[in-house]
Amino acid sequence: MKITVVGTGYVGLVSGVCFSEFGFDVTCVDVDATKIASLSAGMVPIYEPGLEEMMQRNVEEGRLSFTTDLAAAVAAASVVFIAVGTPSRRGDGEADLSYVYAAAREIARNMQPETVVTIKSTVVVGTCRAVRDIIAAERPGVPFSVASNPEFLREGAAIEDFLRPDRVVVGVDDERAKLRMRRVYRPLNLRETPILITSFENAELIKYAANAFLAMKVTFINEVADLCEKVGGNVQEIARGIGLDNRIGSKFLHAGPGFGGSCFPKDTRAFAATGRKAGAPQRLIEEVIAINEARKADMAARVLAALPEPAKSTVAVLGVAFKPNTDDVREAPSLAVIGDLLAEGVSVRAHDPEAMAQAAPLLPGVAWCDSPYQAAEGADVLVILTEWNAYRMLNFATLKTVMAGRLILDLRNIYKPDDIAGTGFSYRSVGRPT
Ligand code: UGA
Repeated sequence: MKITVVGTGYVGLVSGVCFSEFGFDVTCVDVDATKIASLSAGMVPIYEPGLEEMMQRNVEEGRLSFTTDLAAAVAAASVVFIAVGTPSRRGDGEADLSYVYAAAREIARNMQPETVVTIKSTVVVGTCRAVRDIIAAERPGVPFSVASNPEFLREGAAIEDFLRPDRVVVGVDDERAKLRMRRVYRPLNLRETPILITSFENAELIKYAANAFLAMKVTFINEVADLCEKVGGNVQEIARGIGLDNRIGSKFLHAGPGFGGSCFPKDTRAFAATGRKAGAPQRLIEEVIAINEARKADMAARVLAALPEPAKSTVAVLGVAFKPNTDDVREAPSLAVIGDLLAEGVSVRAHDPEAMAQAAPLLPGVAWCDSPYQAAEGADVLVILTEWNAYRMLNFATLKTVMAGRLILDLRNIYKPDDIAGTGFSYRSVGRPT
């Protein structure tokens, strides 16, 4: 079976590489010729552990190729995945589907009869039906099917998530799509991964409901952290105590500076917009969005409160990626926090193992540094914003020699207060006694 993936962004590339790893013959298509050239030369434009090696191996073994020639790639495939972007539209927060619709039109013009067109991009409910209508209008009388196949890949763990998912969700409305999609995921089925075959609408809603729920879980524990700080609790103990209840589960209960990334902020906004439009407002999620925005500002306020004279102070920020093992800074808490510090005249020195090139154009005025210690030079406060492993074993003696101040603000709780005791630093974290 030949598979073509349209769009070589994060989702398209990971999916294409992993389908070739399953043993399928895969072609990845993009309009960006520079990107296709660099992928063909074996270079992955994003930082995702394990992806480049897996891609190179599958290219060498002849199962994976890259092209800008959509027409030829689509004509050769029996399943075509749409994995183009669905950015938030300015203003209303709704997902912008124009790239999905444009891709559907081009696929329709070039596909063989009986092709299954599968939407992997995150799309609002109703999109699969709209895509089906677009294709039918382009190619009247030609048999084809549409399927919805949302992805649940975490950046930094995408390969693992693709090859060992908790479940696969597929929305269909005919037998052809059902059988073909079962074949696509047969390698996982052999490993007993549950494959949920459902309607278009259900598949589309499952994706948003899953991300909205996870964002809500993070926001819940962040608010519990605030309460712990006021009444003397330890949020990590609370998370453990509630997480051991299987009905709650221990994951996504790490308090921090608020969620960011390319998915949770955009998907919660789109989910809320869908609810408003449908007359079924998602009030919990509306509130989650507002709380998370306020939290980022509150994190900046905490740093500023520690600086008697912000305009004469220097802050070292460790971590600008929205989470570790990625170079992605989209809607990262760091952007809001550093932005607020710069607005108050604070000198900001920052380090990140992978994301500085992405962050630099968004944060003019920051001094970017080669190491955490270089960032700490002359700093009054050291703020940990991303829980990279590289920050888990800082040498406090060295920090003491380079820093002007003696405060560590650990907004990811990567240290235990005991680790810092005796180092000469005072230590504040999130939702835990100091
Ligand atoms: C998320 C979902 O986890 C994936 O299942 C989904 O496929 C993906 O969005 C998507 O829609 O494409 P991702 O955005 O890569 O994946 O990152 P997560 O690991 O989910 O983290 C999201 C944000 O929540 C990060 O800012 C992270 O720091 C924060 N977070 C997460 C916490 O603050 N605490 C936690 O306990 C967990």
